[in-house]
Amino acid sequence: MRELRWLSLATVLGAWSVIVIGGYVSHTGSGLGCSELIACGTPNDPVAAFVESMHRLAAWVEGLLVLAMLVLALWRYRTWTRVRDLTVLAFVLVAAQAGLGILAVMTELNALVVTAHLGVATAFLAVTVLNAATIFRGAPPMDAIARGPATGTPNTG
Ligand code: HEM
Repeated sequence: MRELRWLSLATVLGAWSVIVIGGYVSHTGSGLGCSELIACGTPNDPVAAFVESMHRLAAWVEGLLVLAMLVLALWRYRTWTRVRDLTVLAFVLVAAQAGLGILAVMTELNALVVTAHLGVATAFLAVTVLNAATIFRGAPPMDAIARGPATGTPNTG
């Protein structure tokens, strides 16, 4: 349970950090600072490249945290349906977000794509917060198993 709690908090903090760095990328015009799509290769503008690469690095770390949580949720907490579903949703959103980030670079910051990137970011943060709140309010899923079929609200008392 402790590792699930720590991971859920880490994903909230990670999501918030990537969003704040993303805002800085946007407001400093660093979105096209990297000459390569996935990693940051030979930069034209070293400052912009640094800012954009920090955003990508933070996004990768966040993606790995969500992946670790997905593995844990499916492996040890499958019966805690609300947590399982929110974690799956978080994973889908973070993957879609990475896709939109890549698309934003490919389209040279098309306004619709960048707006969608912002929209998914806020939904993603909301899902991580809701998941962490559910985990901190709930009891270990063993309780849910003992009481019968999982309902998604393991701790009612
Ligand atoms: C957890 C994943 C990610 C989150 C939560 C996230 C979030 C954000 C946010 C909130 C912004 C600011 C948008 C705005 O001010 O309108 C932003 C900007 C940006 N992001 Fe991401 N991002 C993620 C991953 C990525 C990835 C993987 C890439 C590229 C490979 C990327 C590329 C960009 C670019 C190029 C911008 C600048 C857009 C502009 O200049 O207006 N993002 N991101």
